[in-house]
Amino acid sequence: MQALIQNVEQKFRELFNEEPMLVRSPGRINLIGEHTDYNEGFVLPASIDRAIYFALSPRNDGQCRFFANDLNDEYQCRVDELTKSGKGWPNYLCGVVDQINKRGYTIPGFNCVFGGNIPIASGLSSSAAIEAGLAYALNNMFHFHLNELSLVKIAQKAENEFVGVQCGIMDQLINIYGRERKVLKLDCRTLEHEYYPFERDDLQLVLCDTRVHRELAASEYNLRRLQCEAGVEALRKYDVNIRSLRDVNIDFLKAHQKELSPVIYKRCKYVIEENERVLAACQDLQREDYGTFGQRMFASHAGLRDEYEVSCAELDVLVEKATKIDGVLGARMMGAGFGGCTINLVQQAALDNFYREMNRAYKDSMQRDLLFYPTQIEAGTSKINVQLIEA
Ligand code: GLA
Repeated sequence: MQALIQNVEQKFRELFNEEPMLVRSPGRINLIGEHTDYNEGFVLPASIDRAIYFALSPRNDGQCRFFANDLNDEYQCRVDELTKSGKGWPNYLCGVVDQINKRGYTIPGFNCVFGGNIPIASGLSSSAAIEAGLAYALNNMFHFHLNELSLVKIAQKAENEFVGVQCGIMDQLINIYGRERKVLKLDCRTLEHEYYPFERDDLQLVLCDTRVHRELAASEYNLRRLQCEAGVEALRKYDVNIRSLRDVNIDFLKAHQKELSPVIYKRCKYVIEENERVLAACQDLQREDYGTFGQRMFASHAGLRDEYEVSCAELDVLVEKATKIDGVLGARMMGAGFGGCTINLVQQAALDNFYREMNRAYKDSMQRDLLFYPTQIEAGTSKINVQLIEA
């Protein structure tokens, strides 16, 4: 981590010859509760030990100067003339500036260098880390006094409006609200949240990166949202109180199966059952029953694969293999789907065998090596104390 911050800081000094403000903005995992956030349901994410680091300083000429250290690429624009860039990456940053402008705050201009170790397009929310990290940094640097929830919403809207993905609130919220060694149970309707300890020394969370990223992920994601909305609209005819799939229970859905197309029915069934799984999984955590918790992860994957249909062959191979390895309590695909990582809950004592067996299985069926990220749960976005780095 030290080296990553120093790289960013050094580049910043080289480009701007100034003392920067430093911010760490982490990636996230989600233990269970996938594709439930935009259905006003429940999720159980945590912020992790992979992050994007920002170095920033103010300007007073209305310019935003960005440098993406990992891409060795720069972008410059005016605070009040934001347009979508064909490069892609500047949109996550400009989207945030745009949202702050829209709330009536004046950004006088700034320099920004960023980089880190959240793998891109692997389902660890590097995009939310960029958005929420910049929102947090600008808020701090210019003393806007925006509260945490406003920062979350600015970051989410940046993605919705500037990037064009209709994501829910989970990724940006956990980025700001994450805590060390804790998972967050979030009610995505009321935004009420509760922290649960997740810190057993005998267990390890491991992400397995398929290194697959399908371009259809964003369009399929938006399509799933529309399908859920179609389900709500059809079901509301039978109960006007239904505002989202959160308000539907499984018996009600089954009673109205004939009124829905088979695809919409499957989508709704998955979401309703996944919400129930999250609530039950939180009770498992309270009892420290990680065995049952893991079983729910497997069940979540089956739903994502068969009913929500956002998995892919690579993810399925990994989860299937994980079910057969001793000491793996649970595994499932994580994030939006169509590639990215699986999340695995593995007993420490079984780790060596897990790495060996999983890699072999992936190589046999996909002819490529598997990447592993053993993951710790760390705090959400924060300022970095410069003295600490230089000590
Ligand atoms: C992406 C989105 C989130 C959430 C997940 C799926 O990460 O950004 O809002 O919908 O997919 O659970």
